Amino acid sequence: MSLLEVTEVRARYGSIEALKGVSLKVGEGEVVTLIGSNGAGKSTTLRSISGLTPATAGKVVFDGEDITRVPAHDIVGRGIALSPEGRHTFPRMTVRDNLELGAYLRRGPEVSEDFDRVYSLFPRLKERERQKAGTMSGGEQQMLAIGRALMARPKLLMLDEPSMGIAPILVARIYETIVEINKSGVAILLVEQNANYALETARRGYVMETGRIVLTGESGQLRDDPEVQRAYLGA
Ligand SMILES: Nc1ncnc2c1ncn2[C@@H]1O[C@H](COP(=O)(O)OP(=O)(O)OP(=O)(O)O)[C@@H](O)[C@H]1O
Ligand SMILES: [Mg+2]
Repeated sequence: MSLLEVTEVRARYGSIEALKGVSLKVGEGEVVTLIGSNGAGKSTTLRSISGLTPATAGKVVFDGEDITRVPAHDIVGRGIALSPEGRHTFPRMTVRDNLELGAYLRRGPEVSEDFDRVYSLFPRLKERERQKAGTMSGGEQQMLAIGRALMARPKLLMLDEPSMGIAPILVARIYETIVEINKSGVAILLVEQNANYALETARRGYVMETGRIVLTGESGQLRDDPEVQRAYLGA
């Protein structure tokens, strides 16, 4: 059985239908990527799963439960965390306070273990604990966004373009960390426009165009597909 099962989900912003029936699955402990160009509906797919842009039709099942109509804050509590596109850290708050917000409603010793875990994955965040998030570099803020999502102790971590606007050397570091996070048992749904790293890291992938999944397969198959190479691998 899949950890996450999205079936024929539709979503809209006013008169624009951004998702026209999206279906995808993520297995327990699996890394899956969703690739596609600007406006394809990748972020909206993650937002629908998170309850931020609720589905108007279709179904989202997580861990055996129907969460299609569950409000966003309850979805975090059930084990799905989103590291959103464009990072969205709180710029005037410190690194530590940003992370603490990610712990959601939990407090106490459990949370201090989560801090240790995030700081060992991202030592840079530990060094910068007292720094205001808004003064961190783009790559550091990306680490913070991922770290904050991890503070919720998710079973499924959804990452929206973790490599966007980041120097290649830091991208490599972030992807190493994604692999480490996965090895600790967390399933990952990874959205990227730059498909090179994503297809190296994920076992399977989905390709999205204008609100629909148009192609799916093992990462190797997708990498060998001429259309994918042309559109998403810069070949
Ligand atoms: N808040 C919004 N209001 C109105 N339309 C929106 C809103 N957010 C997204 N859209 C539209 O929905 C469609 C899908 O957008 P979405 O952000 O999901 O695409 P994406 O695949 O994540 O693109 P990108 O790679 O550029 O981030 C686009 O046509 C977009 O213009
Ligand atoms: Mg997007």
